[in-house]
Amino acid sequence: MNKITESIFYTGVLNPNLRVFDIIMRTDFGTSYNSYLVKGKEKLALVETAHSSFFDYFIENVKNAAGGAKIDYLILNHCEPDHTGSVAKLLKVYPDMQILTSAAGAIYIKQITNLPQLELRVVRDGETLDLGGRTLQFISAPFLHWPDSMFTYCPEEKAVFTCDFLGSHYCEPQLFDNKITYKGQYLYALKNYFDAIFGPFLPYVRKGLEKLEPLGAEYFCTSHGPVLTKGGCAAEVVSLYKEWSAQIKKTALSIPIFYCSAYGNTEKLAKAVREGILSVKPAAKAALYNIIEYDLALLQGLLNSSDAFLIGTPTLNRDAVAPVWQLLAGFDAINAAKRPCALFGSFGWSGEALPNVTARLTGLKCAVFDKQLKVNFTPSQEELDAAKSFGAEFAAAIADLK
Ligand code: FEO
Repeated sequence: MNKITESIFYTGVLNPNLRVFDIIMRTDFGTSYNSYLVKGKEKLALVETAHSSFFDYFIENVKNAAGGAKIDYLILNHCEPDHTGSVAKLLKVYPDMQILTSAAGAIYIKQITNLPQLELRVVRDGETLDLGGRTLQFISAPFLHWPDSMFTYCPEEKAVFTCDFLGSHYCEPQLFDNKITYKGQYLYALKNYFDAIFGPFLPYVRKGLEKLEPLGAEYFCTSHGPVLTKGGCAAEVVSLYKEWSAQIKKTALSIPIFYCSAYGNTEKLAKAVREGILSVKPAAKAALYNIIEYDLALLQGLLNSSDAFLIGTPTLNRDAVAPVWQLLAGFDAINAAKRPCALFGSFGWSGEALPNVTARLTGLKCAVFDKQLKVNFTPSQEELDAAKSFGAEFAAAIADLK
């Protein structure tokens, strides 16, 4: 059950009941914390550990796979605690075990384990580790999806350990992709995982795929979900990653206008602002989205792929309304730096919504337009004209596509 190849064994833990991962990701099909033991003639190397909650299961798997032998090395391709949560406890079982990780990983793992004196071997791109008849080669793969990320390749087994890359929060009792029972659900989980984990890092995904291609790997030992194999889903998953990370040449500026409107006043402003935008940039895609009428994930995708955007919100209880905050909760802050944005809204008593959202967008490093459009209750014709001018001025400040 736990044998991947002649010298690689599964030592991970299944967590089929997990429904939320990392606070924000729904995991309808659970997950797994995959870990692998590579057995050379002289040395044993473990690749990744498991979530700390499952240490007892994990260590039993390690001991069974090792057959009573000690673990010589622990390879950490990525140090997020779902893979490193058991490191401190594991060191108590195997105190002489040497940890190998990237330079960034070395910093993180000391903080994660609270072991500042932890002795580590920092490995660089192209370095190898000889286990006796089995070699591990380290391949730098930064931002897939942390700065510390790397791949580890075992050429004798044609197996590459990719940690989160090509993984999925998907749990079935069997190890291999060619045994997946619910393929549609697996592909759904794969896409959700890709969007959540790798969406902000598409250029790095393309580089990662380029690094994997020449290896000719037949086993892709990910750290979540099934092991991908040459005869199973590996080619399909790699192809999907290529498709999802492909650069799309834009032909028109995307300037979505997101708004909420209790009595139609902010909506009237939104329509006038749009007119103004199109008067300056007629080819722009400046669609109106009443936030509460759309799927939030769809809107967050539009927000994140926009060239510029606007938010219209009334004020409720001295703040912007909840759907606006929910939309911004899915904002890709990593790629948002200097994204032009502008704010408008109708208010009744005090109108704190716009300064509050401004503070948030400024904190996310967006380029917030220095003018705001704020109207008390029902916009007059003069105010609608001003809204049109506001849209035109904002559009004029947005750079055209190159
Ligand atoms: Fe599966 Fe980024 O940890």
